[in-house]
Amino acid sequence: MKRVLGIFILCFLFTIPWILLVSIQPEDYPYDYEQLSENERLVIRFSHVVGEDTPKGMAARKFAELVKERSNGYIEVQVFSNGNLYKDGEEMNALSRGDIQLIAPAISKLTEYVPEISIFDLPYAFHSLDEVHEFVETKAGQTLVERLKAHNLYAISLWDSGFKQMSNRIRPIHHYDDIKRLTMRIMPSDILEKQFSSLGAFPKKYDFNAVYNELQKGSVDGQENTLTNITSKNIYSLQDYLTISNHGYLGYFVLFNLDFWNSLDEDVKQLLTETFQEVQEWEWKLTNQLNKETLQKIENCGCIELHYLSQEDMLEWEKRFEPLYNYYKQNYGDEFINALPKYQTDT
Ligand code: LMR
Repeated sequence: MKRVLGIFILCFLFTIPWILLVSIQPEDYPYDYEQLSENERLVIRFSHVVGEDTPKGMAARKFAELVKERSNGYIEVQVFSNGNLYKDGEEMNALSRGDIQLIAPAISKLTEYVPEISIFDLPYAFHSLDEVHEFVETKAGQTLVERLKAHNLYAISLWDSGFKQMSNRIRPIHHYDDIKRLTMRIMPSDILEKQFSSLGAFPKKYDFNAVYNELQKGSVDGQENTLTNITSKNIYSLQDYLTISNHGYLGYFVLFNLDFWNSLDEDVKQLLTETFQEVQEWEWKLTNQLNKETLQKIENCGCIELHYLSQEDMLEWEKRFEPLYNYYKQNYGDEFINALPKYQTDT
């Protein structure tokens, strides 16, 4: 009897670890995907052309961190800044080839694909960043976003850089006539070209990463950009005059290669979409804060002559640019212009 009891106890002791092992399923443990090779993880290469300390640079890093954390390391967003991997003129082709999966070009650079998206370039089209955000949510704004799909581009988010200011080395710009005969660097956009040529200036298109060199060589007298772009590339060190004109919006559509996006699992798409929504809110606040801080820094350095346009000046400038609005309407109809928040009357 004792022997039978001994065998029974032994069997029982051997079975316990097996029962425990079977009852603990692998999903009870968070999987550490960081142990996986690059081939087993989902790698998203994100290339952009600005510095790390700009709103876009910081938002790209924040997005990468959050996605890594939320997917337990399964999704790895590799961020390449400063045009180090692909420059302005190269990143779109790299995206369509599938060499990278994510870019965030300035909207002006998308006008080559969807020309009517140049509404964002019209001077004084928007009087605040809130108005830009509001416009993108309208039917007209969403139509523009949808039209990118025909070019295999999926716009998942809108990030701000802010409003552009004008700098040059020749003379202070107090009135729009002061821009006459200046050679100004622009991003590739029909409307931006007209913005300067209609004032008797000479617009020249250059990649963002070439601006510093071109200013240094004197091939252009001036340029327009947001304050964080102007300081992060040290552009202001080569310029004598800066006008706070807030004349045009500079923002980005964060773009996936659409085929790549469609190939993703639904749960991955959901994680990326939700994270982008959160980062977008964060980026908008950050842009406001960084632009204020940067202006303060420029005021304090005393290294460039600053001029602020008054509200009246800006209204006068806006009026001066009316022919550009007519040009836009003639080419792309009324639909988009009419949806601009500044033309909506409160009911
Ligand atoms: C520029 O070319 O001036 C900007 O598009 C750079 C950027 O991406 O903010």
